[in-house]
Amino acid sequence: TLAVARTVAALREHVAAYRRRGESVGLVPTMGALHAGHLALVEAARRQCDRVVATLFVNPKQFDRPDDLTHYPRDEGRDARLLDEAGADLLFAPSGAEMYPDGFATTVCVGGVTDSLEGAHRPGHFDGVTTVVTKLLLQSLPDRAFFGEKDYQQLVTVRRLARDLDIPVTIEGVPIVREGDGLALSSRNQRLTADQRAVAPTLARVLRDSAARLADGTADADAVLDGGRRTLLNAGFDAVDYLALCDARDLTPLARADRPARLLAAAWLGPVRLIDNIAVGDA
Ligand code: PAJ
Repeated sequence: TLAVARTVAALREHVAAYRRRGESVGLVPTMGALHAGHLALVEAARRQCDRVVATLFVNPKQFDRPDDLTHYPRDEGRDARLLDEAGADLLFAPSGAEMYPDGFATTVCVGGVTDSLEGAHRPGHFDGVTTVVTKLLLQSLPDRAFFGEKDYQQLVTVRRLARDLDIPVTIEGVPIVREGDGLALSSRNQRLTADQRAVAPTLARVLRDSAARLADGTADADAVLDGGRRTLLNAGFDAVDYLALCDARDLTPLARADRPARLLAAAWLGPVRLIDNIAVGDA
């Protein structure tokens, strides 16, 4: 059954006990409001590690819009039940003061890969993510840490962070879990009206169709992506922050998919901002 730790000291005691038994440890960081996408991370961790530590912390530092933070769904009891059923061993659910005590003054900032896409549209977001992920990795010192491809730029950024700071952990990416109609699972989907929910799968469809057109490596990305943006707006999206073709490893923009590439998008339905991405070719 699932144990719960509220403090860094308690977390470290649990992990130390696993280590004394020679068990490997997988970390699954989350902000709660768990769905099948999060549980796929837990399942991947269970396959690759003896023990699974999930974390639940709605990290205020990574929210660039106060409105998004206040509306963020919270239900720790439900999350704990789902983690228990999925076979996690430990839930680390610290308070705000445990993570950021009075006088906290350090920011971890990853350059380069955070400049574009989400980084360009959400000021401060990645500094918040990299600061909290660094803390979670150093607090638990897992063998592997699991991140979803849903937040592809976050995954690339965390890989860079672990490499640059010599954090002794393997970062594992897990494929996106989708609804039957293609919509990527997200805690923010709960906020969509029925009409918006009907429009939402167009984002995944545009990514899939555009990726198919770009897959041979010769098609001009600008033309394909202009068409994709128009399709999103015509379908009922209120704005498109970006629809972009990027190098799969470092996220530099590409004019055509002539190397391993990723197509990434962010678009608004009313007050809800959806993100999604897809591999192009066999990237
Ligand atoms: P959160 O949005 O709760 O997501 C936790 C993890 O679940 C992330 O690695 C995310 O990519 C993954 N995930 C979410 N939806 C998914 C889906 N449909 N398929 C596969 N994986 C999915 O990402 C964060 O929290 C935070 O930034 C965090 C890393 C916890 C730092 O605060």
